[in-house]
Amino acid sequence: MRRSIGEADLVVIATPEYNHSTSGALKNAIDWVSRPRKDNPFEWKPVVIMSASTGMLGGIRAQEHLRQILASLGALVITYPEVVVGSADSKFDGEGRLRDPAALRFMDQLLGNGLRLARALRVGLEVADARIYGK
Ligand SMILES: Cc1cc2nc3c(=O)[nH]c(=O)nc-3n(C[C@H](O)[C@H](O)[C@H](O)COP(=O)(O)O)c2cc1C
Repeated sequence: MRRSIGEADLVVIATPEYNHSTSGALKNAIDWVSRPRKDNPFEWKPVVIMSASTGMLGGIRAQEHLRQILASLGALVITYPEVVVGSADSKFDGEGRLRDPAALRFMDQLLGNGLRLARALRVGLEVADARIYGK
């Protein structure tokens, strides 16, 4: 998991909401890959977050906690637009495909923003390190 995150241009995390937070399983996975600290793969990593919940708020509070956790690891979390799928039990078809047009539109935009940051970082960091800072 650490290697996959390290090699990825963009990490996409989708979470449910458990008691106003992200799931314990996801928190545990992030905790494990983040240590030893020198091997933390989230530093400078573009990340987008999405959530789904059977409740009306669609897991927005879980996203807030997740952002806080990822901030402690130096991840670059794109926060706009927010993809929250409320009443999720009625928004997916039998094959598990999301059928909510608004959520799909926001998802498209969010992924586009994430990829744009990933591309900009790849080019920008090389240029900045080499030309501006001489590294
Ligand atoms: C222990 C537990 C706590 C939950 N707490 C919340 C919550 O605080 N807010 C919310 O919107 N949904 C809550 N839910 C509903 C989950 O978000 C919903 O089950 C989720 O969309 C589907 O994930 P699951 O397949 O892991 O249950 C909770 C579900 C569980 C099992």
